[in-house]
Parts: sequence; C-alpha cells; structure tokens
Amino acid sequence: MAEHARTCLAMTIVNDYADNKGDRVVTKTSFDLTGQVAVITGSSRGIGRASAELLAQLGAQVVISSRKAGPCQEVADGIRKAGGEAHVIPCNISRRNEVEALIAGATEHYGKVDILVCNAAVNPYYGALLDITNEAFDKIMGANVKSNLWLCALTIPQMAARGKGSVVMVSSTGGLRGSTVIGAYGISKAADIAMCRSLAGEWSPKGVRVNCVAPGLIKTDFARTFWEDEECLKRLCARTPLRRIGEPDEIAGAVAYLASDASTFMTGQTIIVDGGVTTAAI
Ligand SMILES: NC(=O)c1ccc[n+]([C@@H]2O[C@H](COP(=O)([O-])OP(=O)(O)OC[C@H]3O[C@@H](n4cnc5c(N)ncnc54)[C@H](OP(=O)(O)O)[C@@H]3O)[C@@H](O)[C@H]2O)c1
Repeated sequence: MAEHARTCLAMTIVNDYADNKGDRVVTKTSFDLTGQVAVITGSSRGIGRASAELLAQLGAQVVISSRKAGPCQEVADGIRKAGGEAHVIPCNISRRNEVEALIAGATEHYGKVDILVCNAAVNPYYGALLDITNEAFDKIMGANVKSNLWLCALTIPQMAARGKGSVVMVSSTGGLRGSTVIGAYGISKAADIAMCRSLAGEWSPKGVRVNCVAPGLIKTDFARTFWEDEECLKRLCARTPLRRIGEPDEIAGAVAYLASDASTFMTGQTIIVDGGVTTAAI
C-alpha cells in the first residue's frame, strides 16, 4: 500500500500527455524538486530514509546524515543506483560542531541548501515525567529542540538571501497529546511545533516556509517498544480508525509536500499523519 502511494506520487512529478496534434508534451508539476538541495538529518533509516529517498526520486540532490557513516553510505548508494543524487555527511545532531560541519559541508558540496528536514530525534527515557533525571531531560531537549534551532540558524539565512527555502521539522503526535510514559519527549515535540510557528512568522516574509509533520505510531526502530509487544499493538490499532500503524513511506509523502512548491501557501503549520488517532470518535 505504501509502495503504491509512492508510485502514484512519483507519477505526479511530470504530466506526460499528447497535445491536440498528437505531439508528446511533458510539463513538471509542483512536486518536482529538480535543482533543489535537501539536507535530511537521521536519514540512514526509518522516516528520514524514506523521506530522503522520496525527495531524491522527485529530483532533489540529497544529503544523507546520521551518526554512523556506513548505513548512510548504503542509503546514498541505493539512491544513486536508482538514478538519484546523494552525498553523505555524518553528524550527531547533539553536537554543535558536527551540525555546523553538516550544513557547511552540504553548502560546499552542492553550493546551497534549499530544503532542511529536521528529522533526527532521541528518546532515552520511558517513565513518569517527574522522575526523569536532569541528564535525560537535557539530552532530549538538546537533541530534539536546541539542535533544530542550530540547524535552522545555519540554513534559514542563506535560504532567505535567495528568497526561497523550506524547512520541515518531524515533530510527533506526542507533542499534541499527553503521555504517562513519554512526557518529556512530548514536551520536546511540542517545542518543535512552537519553534516552527515562530520561525515561520519571522522568516516567511523573506520566502522561507517552516512547517512540521506530526506522525502517529510508525513502524521504525524508534517506536519498537510500542509495536513489538503484540498486546500493546492490538490496543493501539483498535484506537486507530485505519486499524494499523503507519509505515515510514506514509510520512515521507507529507515531508515531500511541505518541501516542494505544492505547498507554497503553507507555513507555520503542522500536518498530522496518524491514521486518524487524534481525531477519532470515542
Ligand atoms: N516512529 C514513530 O512512531 C514516530 C512517531 C512520531 C514521530 N517520530 C519522529 O520521527 C523522527 C524519525 O524517527 P524514526 O521513527 O524514523 O526513527 P529511526 O527509524 O530510529 O531512525 C532514526 C534516525 O536518526 C538517526 N539518529 C539517532 N540519533 C541521532 C543523533 N543524535 N544524531 C543524528 N542522527 C541520529 C539514526 O541513525 P544513527 O543511529 O546512525 O544516528 C536514524 O537514521 C524522529 O524525530 C521521531 O521523533 C517517530
């Protein structure tokens, strides 16, 4: 199903039809990303990987990044094999010097950054909010919030100087609802939504749009605790109108929409992609 959705989206990159004289006419649609450079953090697997692959499929030159170079290289090789363009720059988003090197390296390699996808995040703590250690709280806020601010500070001004750019932050429905086990993570994801709104207000007048995607439960390593336990998965699916959890490709479509000119009138917003959980009738 996710594969089908991806194929359909790829088919919308170009309109290919015969005109009234029977000549073949090919025009690009607003999803086309040819000539655009995209940096996607945490793109060695999961949602980041699916997003990078889709952006590359839509024509973007993509920078693949995570803490480990090997898995990033595999993703980049796959993109190149499929006819796309990819470059690897490893980066731990918690380290300011590595974040600086990521944006400087992407700009040096491709000449600019047009699209920034702040996707990587951490969640080292499951449990009662008031029991969290300072160390765990600081780690969550540093990686999920402060690093996104760094990434934006390093890219948005160069986008604004060209009068165009798109930032997409991968937030979470955890930032929209309370949780008895991942409360601190939820605080960080709510902060991303707030950051996106304020940056949109500051920079959209200069042509830079900033938006969020808030996924529900997606089948990745990050959320393994929730979907590996069969009973827990059954409970979660029963509360989900679509009666299943999502796949990374199903978030990538929203990222591609926000990254592309298909969403040029959209800024400061959050698209919820959660199988209907947050709007379900109970
Ligand atoms: N899965 C869900 O249910 C779900 C739901 C809502 C929101 N989200 C959000 O979606 C985003 C992606 O999560 P995912 O589910 O796709 O996770 P995932 O499959 O575990 O992938 C995480 C990616 O981030 C990288 N990463 C982890 N820590 C990093 C760090 N400190 N610096 C740089 N890269 C790092 C990982 O590679 P390395 O290990 O090599 O660094 C990997 O590429 C996150 O922002 C998460 O909060 C996920």
